[in-house]
Amino acid sequence: MVKILLFMGSPRIGGNSDILSQALITGARNAGAKTERLPIAHMHISPCLECGGCDKTGECIIDDEMRTVYRKIEASDVIVVASPVFFYNITASTQAVIERSQACWIGKYVLKRGKFGGKTRKGVLLCQGATKGRLLFDGILRTIRYFFDAIDTDFKGALLYRGIEAKGAIRQHPDAINEAETLGKLLATGATLESYKPLKNK
Ligand SMILES: Cc1cc2nc3c(=O)[nH]c(=O)nc-3n(C[C@H](O)[C@H](O)[C@H](O)COP(=O)(O)O)c2cc1C
Repeated sequence: MVKILLFMGSPRIGGNSDILSQALITGARNAGAKTERLPIAHMHISPCLECGGCDKTGECIIDDEMRTVYRKIEASDVIVVASPVFFYNITASTQAVIERSQACWIGKYVLKRGKFGGKTRKGVLLCQGATKGRLLFDGILRTIRYFFDAIDTDFKGALLYRGIEAKGAIRQHPDAINEAETLGKLLATGATLESYKPLKNK
């Protein structure tokens, strides 16, 4: 059974990221996956403190809820990051989780440990913003790519939606909910994502 771990990075419960997340989870569960949604904006997860505590061990020494998140990442087969655009970036709480993967980066590139959790995962991003600029998601895509690399997760692409602002506005998008649900199904069944057209890679 495919285990999907989803980081819900918006503080707005019932908002657009949450709606997209739930659609993906519905598709995945109906296709037999085990799913877990972590409301990271409402969890106690500090950003990296650059204390050097992981330098020799690859283990972060900050004692907060990220401790269990590391173990959940290790156990997962698929990572989904869902975040709105905040100031052309992901939200601060999503960034905090990403910064804490520095311990994994140390494990991988400095201590030359094997794969995190002993395997390679698949990773996707769900993201939407209010504006419509061409470069809206460029920085975010780069950040997510490097996050996924640190946790041995192959970035498979992103569902990206422009012009989505009010709470629930994503429901008015002609394709978004169906696309997220279908993505969940594809992730659950281990189908190849390369030919799934809605996924953007840059
Ligand atoms: C603090 C804050 C910063 C934002 N910055 C941007 C931005 O830089 N570009 C943009 O297109 N939308 C921006 N938005 C709009 C959100 O991305 C948009 O409303 C999104 O759909 C919210 O998703 P949610 O309901 O999952 O939180 C911002 C919203 C907030 C609250």
